[in-house]
Amino acid sequence: MVWAVLAAAGRGERLGTDRPKAFARLGERPLLAESMERLESSGWIDAIVVAAPPEWEEPAILLAEELGAGKVSSVVTGGESRSESVRLAMEEVPGDAAAALVHDAARPLVSDTVIERVLAPLSEGWDGVVPALPVSDTVKRVQRDQVVETLPRDELVAVQTPQAFVASMLRDALGGNVAEASDCASLVEARGGRVKVVEGDHRLVKVTGPEDLALVESWLNGA
Ligand code: CTP
Ligand code: MG
Repeated sequence: MVWAVLAAAGRGERLGTDRPKAFARLGERPLLAESMERLESSGWIDAIVVAAPPEWEEPAILLAEELGAGKVSSVVTGGESRSESVRLAMEEVPGDAAAALVHDAARPLVSDTVIERVLAPLSEGWDGVVPALPVSDTVKRVQRDQVVETLPRDELVAVQTPQAFVASMLRDALGGNVAEASDCASLVEARGGRVKVVEGDHRLVKVTGPEDLALVESWLNGA
């Protein structure tokens, strides 16, 4: 069984709407609807656990009902950080689950193609798989306003979600101190897990500010 964890419990401070980002409007619907519906209709996914912001659990359950998303098996209250939200959601995933696919609700345009691309290498012995795109800007390490180092661009990629894991590996990796981690793969890497990089998708942009929401909306409208 492949379980999806949909991380939707963030506050969305940079988006700056009057509600958590997952419930900000994308066209007529809350942002969360897009990824929930896409995971629901994916033939690769058997069940979904949603991490919702405190006090938004009920709206998340209602949304799943409205969408007829019967794979949504539970909605948990998220934690203070993304990794804590994922850890809390993983507590709802049965111990015999084979794979866990962790996805950000902030990346609404998840496709079946990328889901298949990240799940497939798990059967070849990889512990985790992340979708990534080449970095086109030069990336520098800075302290205050001073450049400390210019990183070799050909070794850098920008990593997205969905990220796929052997469920037991992810569970173990979430067992320690997870507060600082910005993605789940880094926790698996820190435990010595082997994480494969596959091709990402430029449509998997993370909605961070208002301009990202407008961009995704224009794509959905066929632009
Ligand atoms: N997330 C989560 N629980 C948290 C923080 C983040 O489930 N405590 C989720 C968000 O809902 C989002 C994803 O992790 O789908 C990526 O986080 P980010 O884009 O940073 O979203 P927010 O934390 O909501 O936004 P901001 O940082 O601007 O407040
Ligand atoms: Mg955040």
